[in-house]
Amino acid sequence: MSVIAFVNQKGGCAKSTTAIHLTYWLFHKQRRVMLVDADAQRSSSIWLESLEDPIPCEVAQTPDQLLERIPKLASQYDALIVDGPAGLSDATKAILLCSDLAVIPCQPTGVDLRSAADAIRLIRQAQATRNGTPQAAVFLSRAVKGTRLKDEAIGHLENLGVPILKTVVHQRQAVADTFGQAATVWELLGKASLEAAEEFEQLFQEIMALLS
Ligand SMILES: Nc1ncnc2c1ncn2[C@@H]1O[C@H](COP(=O)(O)OP(=O)(O)O)[C@@H](O)[C@H]1O
Ligand SMILES: [Mg+2]
Repeated sequence: MSVIAFVNQKGGCAKSTTAIHLTYWLFHKQRRVMLVDADAQRSSSIWLESLEDPIPCEVAQTPDQLLERIPKLASQYDALIVDGPAGLSDATKAILLCSDLAVIPCQPTGVDLRSAADAIRLIRQAQATRNGTPQAAVFLSRAVKGTRLKDEAIGHLENLGVPILKTVVHQRQAVADTFGQAATVWELLGKASLEAAEEFEQLFQEIMALLS
C-alpha cells in the first residue's frame, strides 16, 4: 500500500542500488513487495531478475504507464518501490503524483547537492497539489570516509528544508560489486559487505519509520 520512490535526476547517486536493496530487504521481511523500474536503462529490473529470489518487478517508463500502473499495483502489494529515471522528466513528475514517499539519494558533492535541490523543487510542486504528499527525505549516499565534504553537504541539505535521514551510506567496493555478482550485499562475504548491509538496514528502518 506504500509507494516509495527513489528520485534524483543525477545519474550515479545510487537510486537503483538503493531501490534494489530495499526491495530485497522487504522481501526477506516477508512483505509483499514489488519493484517498478522507471529508468530507460532498466538496470534494476535486469538486476532483480538476476537474483535467486522470485521478487516481482515491472518496467513502466512513460508518464501514462506510470500513472496507470503504480496505483493499480500499489493496491496489490504492501510496498511498491519505484526506481526513478535520470532527469527531471514528466516521468519523474508522474511518479511524484502517485508516491507516498520520495527518497532522494545525494552524493556529497556540489553538483549533486544542486541536483537534489532541483528534485526537491519538483517534490514541493507535487506536495502543493496533493495536500503535502509525497513525504520527502534525503540521504547521503556514496560518501567517502574521512572527507569533510560529508559534513559540508549535511549543512547544505539542512538549508533545503527536507528531512535528512541520519544514516549515511558510504562508498564501498562491495556495494559496487553487487550488480556484476547478481547479488545484494547480504549475499556477499567479507567485512565491507557486512558494514554496507548494516548501513542499508539502518537506512531502511528509518525510511519505513517515516511511513508508519
Ligand atoms: N555505496 C556505494 N559504494 C560504491 N559504489 C556504489 C554505491 N552505491 C552505488 N554504487 C555504484 O555507483 C554506480 C551508480 O549507482 P546506481 O545505483 O546505478 O545509481 P543511479 O541509479 O542513481 O544512476 C553503480 O556503479 C553502483 O554500483
Ligand atoms: Mg538507476
